[in-house]
Amino acid sequence: MSLYAIGDLHLHYQSELKAPGQLHDRVWKNHEEKFRKNCLKAVAEEDTLVLAGDHSWGRNLAACELDLKYICDLPGKKILTRGNHDMFWDASKTKQLNELYQPRLTFLQDSYASYRDYALVGTKGFTFEGPFYLDRRGRIMGWDEEAEVHAVKLVERELQRLRKSFELARTDGYRKFIMFLHYPPTNILEERSGFTDMAEEYGAEQVIYAHCHGESRFHDSIHGEYRGRVYRLVSGDFLRWKPLKILD
Ligand SMILES: [Fe+2]
Ligand SMILES: [Fe+2]
Repeated sequence: MSLYAIGDLHLHYQSELKAPGQLHDRVWKNHEEKFRKNCLKAVAEEDTLVLAGDHSWGRNLAACELDLKYICDLPGKKILTRGNHDMFWDASKTKQLNELYQPRLTFLQDSYASYRDYALVGTKGFTFEGPFYLDRRGRIMGWDEEAEVHAVKLVERELQRLRKSFELARTDGYRKFIMFLHYPPTNILEERSGFTDMAEEYGAEQVIYAHCHGESRFHDSIHGEYRGRVYRLVSGDFLRWKPLKILD
């Protein structure tokens, strides 16, 4: 039994929308087929696959049905967390989504899922992405401070949601955690954040995040061991559509 993760499938079986990278970068060519084949090779029915947000370009649930069916048909137990592009998923209606798709899919929000003696906790997260003001050499000289104030509020709300997940799991007796975010745990200016602090507070062994697309963004946040935890980026194009094994 193994735990795998990947993010940012950005499926569009019913939608014309695509990210700029999806139009131009070869890594996105037939990515649905590449990923399906890699999953069939790696993931067994008894395994768990966490999909860390940005599942579909569909604007509402009806426009995501084929994308969610594609996910249902992948091997293993599928757990989904929210990404910034998942317009079909209103956080306050997660219960209804779960009722609709149980037992085929689990939508994780303000809750936790079990994997062996671990609790898998997760939320979308948030990171300030600018705009940043650069000098001629590309060095950051400043940023939009109003946008930063707004970002602080969004981060605060996501931290509350994440704390709720940790607390529920802890109340149920869990002491081992894997933490999932969609956004990276820090913005490009930070070395640590409320999310890295919370991972440390609860002793999460690993922090898994996605959202970063393209060579120029893959190193926006932490990779590898940092202050006693392991941080891993699992955006699909970074992993070249091979689900990453998180735990045996
Ligand atoms: Fe994405
Ligand atoms: Fe994203």
